[in-house]
Amino acid sequence: MSTHPVVADRALDRALDRAVDRAPAAAPPARRLAVVPPPASPSSTVRSVSQGVPAQPEGPAPSRARTAPAPGEEPLLPVVGGEEQVPLVTGGTARYANLDVAASAPALCWVADHVERVLPLYASVHRGAGYASQVSTAVLEGARDVVGGFVGARADDVVVWTRSTTDALAVLAGCVPDGGSVLVLDLEHHANLLPWRTQGHRGVTSRVVEAAPTLEGTLAVLADALAAEPTALVAVTGASNVTGEELPLRRVADLAHTAGARLAVDAAQLAPHRAVDVARDGVDWVALSGHKLYAPFGAGALVGRRDWLDEGTPYLAGGGAVAEVGLDDVRWAAAPARHEGGTPNVLGVAALAAACDALQALAGGALEAHERALRERLVDGLAGVPGVRVHRALEGAPSAIGVVTFTVDGVAPGLVAAVLSAEHGIGVRDGRFCAHPLLERLGLREGAVRASVGVGSRAEDVDRLVAALRALVSDGPGWEYALVEGRWAPVDDPRPWPEWGDPTARAAAARPCGG
Ligand SMILES: Cc1ncc(COP(=O)(O)O)c(C=O)c1O
Repeated sequence: MSTHPVVADRALDRALDRAVDRAPAAAPPARRLAVVPPPASPSSTVRSVSQGVPAQPEGPAPSRARTAPAPGEEPLLPVVGGEEQVPLVTGGTARYANLDVAASAPALCWVADHVERVLPLYASVHRGAGYASQVSTAVLEGARDVVGGFVGARADDVVVWTRSTTDALAVLAGCVPDGGSVLVLDLEHHANLLPWRTQGHRGVTSRVVEAAPTLEGTLAVLADALAAEPTALVAVTGASNVTGEELPLRRVADLAHTAGARLAVDAAQLAPHRAVDVARDGVDWVALSGHKLYAPFGAGALVGRRDWLDEGTPYLAGGGAVAEVGLDDVRWAAAPARHEGGTPNVLGVAALAAACDALQALAGGALEAHERALRERLVDGLAGVPGVRVHRALEGAPSAIGVVTFTVDGVAPGLVAAVLSAEHGIGVRDGRFCAHPLLERLGLREGAVRASVGVGSRAEDVDRLVAALRALVSDGPGWEYALVEGRWAPVDDPRPWPEWGDPTARAAAARPCGG
């Protein structure tokens, strides 16, 4: 038996599963991953990855006789690390409250188990004749149906494997027809602002429309911009990574199509939180990331219309992307192979498909009810803390995912985040969230704090955040902090770090997107 801590933890989970008479999830058949996720019983999935030693379960032993908790009270699905204890500067430990899932979500236990199941038959794909190669190829190819189904793809849509949403939108940028114009809103993540700007050598241009403060106003300025100039593609986010507010995709698609444009949706934030249905909503392409979908193994996808993808610039020139190669010429393959040069990430794709299956298997409306309850609890709780302000960008947006950005009057966002982490064991994000133009327009040049919830979150996480902010506002920090290389950090931080992940050993603090 492996002694790797993660593997050991899952062995522990299985033992706990048996102890509470939970049926472990059945191994999915080779092609279609028909997953029935294990029932959420988070208190039975205690892990201590950092120490490799299982922590003791908190609270009462899990019982099948428990009455169903209200939405948001408990995690909807168990995630790896959901019960992890982290050290505090003030001494002792606290269960890690991960309120930063919008940046990268923890793996579903189901996903981690599935990857472990696939690993023994992991091998080269497409070209191998061996048994394991054939299984791995089936995993990779079968997953296209799963992920396509997860986003409601049409029968003739293509699923291209990518590393992430950024990667997927870059693939699409290379496929915008020569001379085409791309229209984006200023509230986009950089991943959906920048790729279009790299195609100038082909005459592709991009225009940024400043969104209005209201949803209706924003749809109106979008319509005006579409009427003003011929547009090949409208590229918008499905849900803002800053405010969580959603765009009504059917209405945006109708505006785009009426003007003769196609619609691409950055679903990095939307897909983990809401059912995406490209066929129903008339979306031409959708981009998503596995690591935001509880499958942090390095895969993402671009799903949508075949025509542009068959004709566009091959994303990675190399093996697998070609039909025929001569010394002076090359005949490129059609999509998806055209954009998948090199060896694909089979395990990442297996994980992504398993996550999609697990989320799809949730009872209808359960995901939305869970996150709506947590978001409301969070927004209401923040509203009750003096000096805390929640920021919105699209008044009238029909709904919002569990992503909330706020500031605390008189306290730097980085200091707020450092205090939450060091004194309370709460993980949030601070900075400008790779959405500089939106933060600028919202008057948040110095950044803000973002809390985000997902299937592994619970009401207690939110309550702890609100209580910690209340304490910060009334009493100030309980420790001394200083700016170190531009980041707030506790002075003489006594917290122990795992030897394989000691942040004090790194050369320089990385500041993606300048915060
Ligand atoms: C709305 C949105 N789009 C795109 C991205 C980029 O995703 P990735 O880093 O997985 O490429 C993010 C990441 O935070 C995001 O929130």
